[in-house]
Amino acid sequence: MKTFSEIQTLVNQAIEKEAKIIADKQPHGLYQPISYILEAGGKRLRPILVLMANNLFTNKIDGSLSPAIAFEVFHNFTLIHDDIMDKADLRRNRATVHKKWDENTAILSGDASLIVAYQFLAKAPDFALAKLLDLFNQTAVEVCEGQQYDMEFETQEQVSATQYLEMIRLKTSVLVAACLKAGAILGKADADDAENLYQFGLNLGLAFQLRDDYLDVYGDVKTFGKKIGNDIVSNKKTYLLIKALEQSSDNQLVELKSLLRDKQISAKEKIEKVSFIYAQLKIKEQVNEKIGYFYEKALGFLKKLTVSSEKKEGLLHLAKKLNSREQ
Ligand code: IPE
Ligand code: IPE
Ligand code: MG
Ligand code: MG
Ligand code: MG
Repeated sequence: MKTFSEIQTLVNQAIEKEAKIIADKQPHGLYQPISYILEAGGKRLRPILVLMANNLFTNKIDGSLSPAIAFEVFHNFTLIHDDIMDKADLRRNRATVHKKWDENTAILSGDASLIVAYQFLAKAPDFALAKLLDLFNQTAVEVCEGQQYDMEFETQEQVSATQYLEMIRLKTSVLVAACLKAGAILGKADADDAENLYQFGLNLGLAFQLRDDYLDVYGDVKTFGKKIGNDIVSNKKTYLLIKALEQSSDNQLVELKSLLRDKQISAKEKIEKVSFIYAQLKIKEQVNEKIGYFYEKALGFLKKLTVSSEKKEGLLHLAKKLNSREQ
């Protein structure tokens, strides 16, 4: 069985190699943005999850590398378009694709990345292909559903914590879950193990997106690689904002709502004022508690897997690391 860092190296080398091949394709205007975001790195969590899950059931993980890359390329496609939708200037400490090039480039290079993702997926071993395609398609359409809710919620005054959790399940968790299940399918795991890995990923993904929302306010731009406060500026109904709206006093509620409506206010002032209300309401502590809740829930599904506890250690370790991640 491979260690986490061996799998990480395998993934990094494979993606860097593919990014170079893509960068050389013509027209450069289409392919270089794809290569640019791919080689910028990021955690490459999704392909790592595919291979780690796969490695629970088999020592021959090389054949799973292409489908693992497919999930990372798909993820990068969602990021290129997400950054247009979220008006984000910075990702992985670099200018976003639509800022470095322009929006039309980001739309088309994003579209092409999705197709490139399918090209990698198509290289999966025959025995797994039909199942992977089903899983991939279901996941991809759910991510779009989640992204649509995310956008609609920006202008919707009332969003409940339940609606929020469903939105992040769709936009983020299903992909994390699908990666783990893909690894299981590629390892010929039985249906129960595949399902428990999926549920582990769903809960891990919820904790992961909650941590992302947390870092949007409390992260450091250099390590997070994204601009701090972007969610506040765009009125994203994050868990933090939803809890603040729920728990505000009458005066705080008036202020918070007027901040949400204010189109003249500078980004800096809006972020400061909203963060101040978060601090008064101890929102930071509440997000952390919720992250802990989903983390524990995730571990419950990991326990159910019918592989030795020794084999589960890698995923356990990774889950723990993600919970306190700063990147
Ligand atoms: C960013 O994903 C989008 C979310 C689902 C929060 P990651 O945090 O995995 O970003 P990279 O791939 O490491 O850059
Ligand atoms: C990301 O949500 C979800 C997808 C890209 C599908 P965010 O919009 O919070 O991700 P970041 O913070 O821009 O990475
Ligand atoms: Mg978004
Ligand atoms: Mg975004
Ligand atoms: Mg975010």
